Amino acid sequence: MGLIIAIDGPAAAGKGTLARRLAAYFGLPYLDTGLLYRATGRLVLDAGGDPADHATAEAAARALRPGDLARGDLRGPQADAAASAVASIPGVRAALLDFQRRFADGPGAVLDGRDIGTIVFPQAQAKLFVTASPEARGHRRWLELQGKGQAADLAEVAGQIRVRDQQDRDRAAAPLVAAPDALLLDTTGLDADTAFAKALDLLRNKRGIAPARIVGFA
Ligand code: DC
Repeated sequence: MGLIIAIDGPAAAGKGTLARRLAAYFGLPYLDTGLLYRATGRLVLDAGGDPADHATAEAAARALRPGDLARGDLRGPQADAAASAVASIPGVRAALLDFQRRFADGPGAVLDGRDIGTIVFPQAQAKLFVTASPEARGHRRWLELQGKGQAADLAEVAGQIRVRDQQDRDRAAAPLVAAPDALLLDTTGLDADTAFAKALDLLRNKRGIAPARIVGFA
């Protein structure tokens, strides 16, 4: 198995930015696994179905093609809610496991999500659990929306994140939880550069993880 870096944590904690930078640093492919659930939810909505319906959502997960992840309509409140609904269905999660594992064949990969270090790659050499205060995460998501020119209400955005966090944490199937061997990184108040530097420090200080890949950097 190549080097697998598993990055988990709640919404808007800074996982994606960090994962992308780590992937570039280590020369590994990157998979945002949230896109799998978003695209599955979107396929269900396209067909006029209910994302909470197990059979429909499972069939959509099985029919998912890599090109579906590149769709332009996978973000926004409707896509968020549909993704969260399908993500709580065990059959959907099972159908998406192979895709994620195959993605890391070869040199390895950086993957971010909610259950990468616990379920998808419990044997990953490096696991980071990335968090930030709910206020910081709400504010970050709000800034993102502003940057895209989408008017949004800060309190509403923060409320939507809280609901999604709760759904992700409370579900029976692969709930959001830190793996016991995950390194914790709290990005509250950190900019992307500082979060990246801290993540590299954590990885460097952890013994036994792919030393040849980790030792080489200053
Ligand atoms: O990371 P995100 O916001 O794009 O994730 C979308 C939804 O999918 C979110 O409700 C959590 C869920 N998800 C999951 O259950 N497991 C993953 N590995 C990734 C995302």
